[in-house]
Amino acid sequence: MNALHRDLNRLVPLVEERGRAQRKDDQTRLRFHLMPPVGWLNDPNGLCWYQGNYHVFYQYGPFDPTGGVKFWGHWSSPDLRNWKQEPVAMCPDQPWDIHGVYSGSALAEDDALYLYYTGNVKYAGDYDYVYEGRGHNLALGITRDGVHIESKMLLMENKDYPADVSCHVRDPKVWKQEDTYYMVLGARTKRDRGELLVYASRDRLHWSLCNTITTPDVFGYMWECPDLFCVDGQWILSLSPQGLEQDGCKYQNVYSCGYFPLYGDFRGAYTLGDYVESDVGFDYYAPQTFVAPDGRRIVIGWMGMPDAAYTNPTAEQSGWQHCMSVPRELHWKEGKVFAAPVRELEELRENGRTETLSGHTQLALGEGTDLLLDNTGDSLHLSIGKDDAVIHWDDGLLTLTLSENAGYGRTQRVLPLDRLIHLRLLIDTTSLELFVNGGEQTMSTRYYPTKADTLAIDGQGAVQLYDMRPMTFQWA
Ligand code: FRU
Repeated sequence: MNALHRDLNRLVPLVEERGRAQRKDDQTRLRFHLMPPVGWLNDPNGLCWYQGNYHVFYQYGPFDPTGGVKFWGHWSSPDLRNWKQEPVAMCPDQPWDIHGVYSGSALAEDDALYLYYTGNVKYAGDYDYVYEGRGHNLALGITRDGVHIESKMLLMENKDYPADVSCHVRDPKVWKQEDTYYMVLGARTKRDRGELLVYASRDRLHWSLCNTITTPDVFGYMWECPDLFCVDGQWILSLSPQGLEQDGCKYQNVYSCGYFPLYGDFRGAYTLGDYVESDVGFDYYAPQTFVAPDGRRIVIGWMGMPDAAYTNPTAEQSGWQHCMSVPRELHWKEGKVFAAPVRELEELRENGRTETLSGHTQLALGEGTDLLLDNTGDSLHLSIGKDDAVIHWDDGLLTLTLSENAGYGRTQRVLPLDRLIHLRLLIDTTSLELFVNGGEQTMSTRYYPTKADTLAIDGQGAVQLYDMRPMTFQWA
């Protein structure tokens, strides 16, 4: 332990204590989504099941609701409903991570949890911090109890990466396959092309490059937060590419987030299928997957968007910002990745009711809602509150439109959609998640309605509606 480590670990609980008082009357706090105790949250990190608990680590800026130097915050849960705030797992206290313990992943072995991350360093000087002046170091924290990190070590530095990459090489995702460990790192080349570096290791500590994966044509300048996994027999390369220009309904956000089906062998000859955006709402980025003990492939995304023009009033009003998406179970069907809320969330449902839709229907909403709609009409219109959020489907387009009051700069997102059979809406106090046709497309957003106690529907079909009890958050 060094002195900086000691002092930071004393300071974080002090600012979190301030958050405790602010949380009490904060109507913007979510009921069934993970949030930071205070300050800022971004990417999910180190998602895993280890020794009887799920673990969600995350990019945490405890001292600054608009960002700041990143720590790893930590939630644990036996069932994805009852959550315990664990002490900060890792803080920037080493020469190789002094300007941020950046994103990474967990490798859960029987007797220890290995947390791989990127140590961010910005050297003092007149640098651009892309091609010069930045260290992106591969580092590892090890814990046996899943909570307290016993040691941190540096594994690779920029000089160890291929010669043609810039300083931006980060976000290790590690997994074990047969008797080998594999790791993917997202990279920006010196010629501004996004790519994936694939490494292999026998001992978890020494890594050698075994492949580079990229597209035939340049696809963005940087691939953040990569993940490579097999679901229902199909390999998927998930990534958050930066630098895609908006092209009609494609890439409407400042940065995209999506996947390529990968055919062949990620260690050798491969081809990538067409890129599909994972979520086309305003707020979804840097998702990471893990495997539940029953074998389900589950994804959690950050319900936020870096460098977006829109904002969240919570930062100024109550000293915190951002949340995670609900955990979603992934499946490969009909040549697509489907994402639907994990079944554990159904235990939060109460007060179920059904309504037949024929023309105009007005429904009363509680503070949290799970709504399942079977659509039989050829158009559909839903409006929450005073048009705070409007979902409209007609003429092959599904639109999500937020009011000026509720959107804080978020306006409209559009999804080409010829067939709408089923729509599921998870409505929390300040978030909305839409699951289209069983999860073949999703749209996630934050929003800040003044009074979201009604839902008006114009359409044909039927709805099933539940109030959602809050999850339990055991704050430290
Ligand atoms: C994605 C990202 C990662 C990085 C982390 C820093 O949102 O930029 O690439 O590791 O956030 O917080």
